[in-house]
Amino acid sequence: MRRLVVFRQFARLVLFAGFLGAPPTVLAGAADLDSRDPGPAVAEDRVLITPPPPIAPRLNGPKVYGARPRAPFLYRVPANGARPISFGMHGLPPGLVLDASTGIITGTVAESGVWRATLTAKNSKGEAKREFRIVIGDTLALTPPMGWNSWYIHYDRVSEALMRQAADQMIDTGMANYGYQYVNIDDCWMRKKGDEPYRGAGGVVLPNAKFPDMKGLADYIHAKGLKAGLYTSPGPWTCGGYVGAYQHEEADARQFADWGFDFLKYDWCSYTSVADTNSPDRFQLPYRLMWNELHKPNRDIVFNLCQYGMDDVWKWGDQVGNCWRTTGDLGLEAGSRLPGFYSIAFSNARHWNFAKPGGWNDPDYILIGWVGDAHGMGQGRPTSITPSEQYSYMALWCLMAAPLIFSGDMAKLDSFTLNVLCNSEVIDVDQDALGRQARIVKQDETEFILLKDMEDGSKALGLFNLGSRPQKLSVSWSDLGLAQDQSVRDLWRQLDLGEFASGFAATVPSHGVALVRVAGK
Ligand code: GLA
Repeated sequence: MRRLVVFRQFARLVLFAGFLGAPPTVLAGAADLDSRDPGPAVAEDRVLITPPPPIAPRLNGPKVYGARPRAPFLYRVPANGARPISFGMHGLPPGLVLDASTGIITGTVAESGVWRATLTAKNSKGEAKREFRIVIGDTLALTPPMGWNSWYIHYDRVSEALMRQAADQMIDTGMANYGYQYVNIDDCWMRKKGDEPYRGAGGVVLPNAKFPDMKGLADYIHAKGLKAGLYTSPGPWTCGGYVGAYQHEEADARQFADWGFDFLKYDWCSYTSVADTNSPDRFQLPYRLMWNELHKPNRDIVFNLCQYGMDDVWKWGDQVGNCWRTTGDLGLEAGSRLPGFYSIAFSNARHWNFAKPGGWNDPDYILIGWVGDAHGMGQGRPTSITPSEQYSYMALWCLMAAPLIFSGDMAKLDSFTLNVLCNSEVIDVDQDALGRQARIVKQDETEFILLKDMEDGSKALGLFNLGSRPQKLSVSWSDLGLAQDQSVRDLWRQLDLGEFASGFAATVPSHGVALVRVAGK
């Protein structure tokens, strides 16, 4: 590729090359490294590169939000800034009210329509404004769902008390201020095989003894402005051997809505044992059935298909759900030269063209921090992936417009993990209202380059170094189909890098990323 970088950009690039402590590299020199040489593994410091949040208000989260007419509306405006903050909103649809001190919007909207509202947040240090489009209609999840799921830390130990704590922690850690909102129970809340009765009067599913009050739990989560999610299987049993929804879909959908849940993960598990093997439609049938049932009660329930990518689910998932797992379990992905999240990402990235508002490719959870894997369902431990790999993980998920569901221990979130999970400009890439997934610009043994169209006409660009040494990665604007003279902003550091005439290059640490936003004049 041509040498692209003009001399006046050199200083900035050296600065960029210092990203995560990688040694600055002279950019216009000979080949920087030989990535065929694995070299010694270098221990990395856990350098926090996300700048601390401002004291003056900053409004975060998506700029578009969808809900159905007449269903209960709940949205907590995500914002940084010293509390107390006074929230305001202009152009709200009739039927909704905003609590000025909590920033929680509630109510119901009778009619479909689009409202172009403006959010405001004010404290003693300043005021922020942000557009917020409310689309009342049929489609939920206009941007990828964000939240937390219990699986990779609590497994079958999950309990109502742990779920309540997770909701507390979503507020206390500040995650909710960045748009994380779903607090989702995974498998193991219902009764286990052998622990009869599984269902009560009218066929309603019974939770196990660790979940004494499902409605109380959902109410508790809602009181914080957050949303509640749960899990079941279209088969008779879940993957963990708990009772599934098979032949009780209508009763279960109604029950989930009556309890007040807002999100359902529907995991294939034992469905194979009851599927009609002669039907060409057998992969879609169980999902269509539950999707239809979920539309009957007056409640917005985001529907997450989990069937590991069978039958090219990305081709039809949007007809029967809001997001669909495209691969097997990330926690089972051993990885090889690269950690497992990379191979999951390579697979998920291929389906970029199928993602859209209301229908997202789901490459599984964000497994960083204090977290387990799917082997043995143990107690969890600090992630073994490097800081650079963690920045890459988050950048990949955001470029791929993936659901951002953290599944580590909420009680053991440390400042490094939060700095990976909570960078407002990185999250803006994921939550962009255009709803495009990044396309693959380049992929070989040593580099992976993704480019995502953004609603404002800018592009999010990720340069991933797959090699085992720092490496200079570069793109030319013409290769990306862009005009000359683009301004570039480093999203992890939230720092303008300046104008670049014909392309961009950065020295990227091993398994790390340069994540930038590129805008023309
Ligand atoms: C499957 C799913 C996981 C998790 C477990 C629970 O393996 O893919 O995400 O929900 O079941 O048993």
